[in-house]
Amino acid sequence: MTSNRNLVFSGMQPTNTLHLGNYLGALKNWVKMQAQMDCIYCVVDMHAITDDAGYRRPEDLTRATREVTAAYIAAGVDPQRTILFNQSQVPEHAELAWIFNCVARLGWLDRMTQFKEKSGKHKERSSVGLYTYPVLMAADILAYKATHVPVGEDQKQHLELARDIAQKFNNDYESPEFFPLPEPVITGPATRVMSLRDGTKKMSKSDESDFSRINMTDDADTIAQKIRKARTDSEPLPSEKKGLEGRQEAENLINIYAALADEGVDAVIAQFAGQQFSNFKNALADLAVTKLRPINDKMRRLLADQAEIDRILKSGSERARAIAAPIVAEVRRKVGFVG
Ligand code: TRP
Repeated sequence: MTSNRNLVFSGMQPTNTLHLGNYLGALKNWVKMQAQMDCIYCVVDMHAITDDAGYRRPEDLTRATREVTAAYIAAGVDPQRTILFNQSQVPEHAELAWIFNCVARLGWLDRMTQFKEKSGKHKERSSVGLYTYPVLMAADILAYKATHVPVGEDQKQHLELARDIAQKFNNDYESPEFFPLPEPVITGPATRVMSLRDGTKKMSKSDESDFSRINMTDDADTIAQKIRKARTDSEPLPSEKKGLEGRQEAENLINIYAALADEGVDAVIAQFAGQQFSNFKNALADLAVTKLRPINDKMRRLLADQAEIDRILKSGSERARAIAAPIVAEVRRKVGFVG
């Protein structure tokens, strides 16, 4: 690490079904950012056990942690340059999260919309961990005094909470500017990749229909088939962006094309203006296969050598800990803990 002045931190939950939304919304941007700034990328296995999807599924969690790590590397994260590790190997995250639990106010957490969505009608049966999830997220970021956090729109509120925690800690312990106030970096045009079946819903691992998403492990035929079957309206492609208003499915496919091709939405519209969706879908299927196949192949090669993935995570954890430990030690002193 050259300096702590500008430091990127981001986290991704380990899940078995990484899809195009994860790739275009997060991974691809993370790969770009490592060329510009020092980056720390974390597989957040401790967050993964906060809900039923991750809790009491040890084999799934282990496999998913390795799979997500392989996906990061396959997509271009360079573990030599960038610190890549799993959260649970750096105990400073949990320690700082406890202290932050005492900084954050119940009223702040009560406003978190993701908790409300995830806990649904059964708040009393949710884990306490799910409730305090955003506090752990603040600890992830601030244990490194990270300044920039690439996240999707849905995480903006959690990032505001991290800023509030940093600010209150700085005030309460009379340490102005001890923690920086981390900035969200909301990413590119296809940040919100929507379901291929319903343009109003996010592409998601939990959607019942596998045709709603393109998985990072889908083969070429499956990708092409899913794109051809994607829902669209019966109009041809518009010749201007305005023509996409109210046509969420059409807009989604064009956004996906633009993000995969690294082109602007306007350029894509200009290229396909007036054409039928069947033509456009063929072009999109070719593009998706060309871009995703090399990642897919590399992921498979990496996963064939688990010991190597585990070594990468271990070495990343050691480098991460070397940064977090002195910061958390200073927090301990500020709080007044002896020793
Ligand atoms: N909550 C984030 C998500 O679901 C993942 C995450 C955990 C994270 N810790 C983080 C993202 C720290 C950015 C920084 O996407």
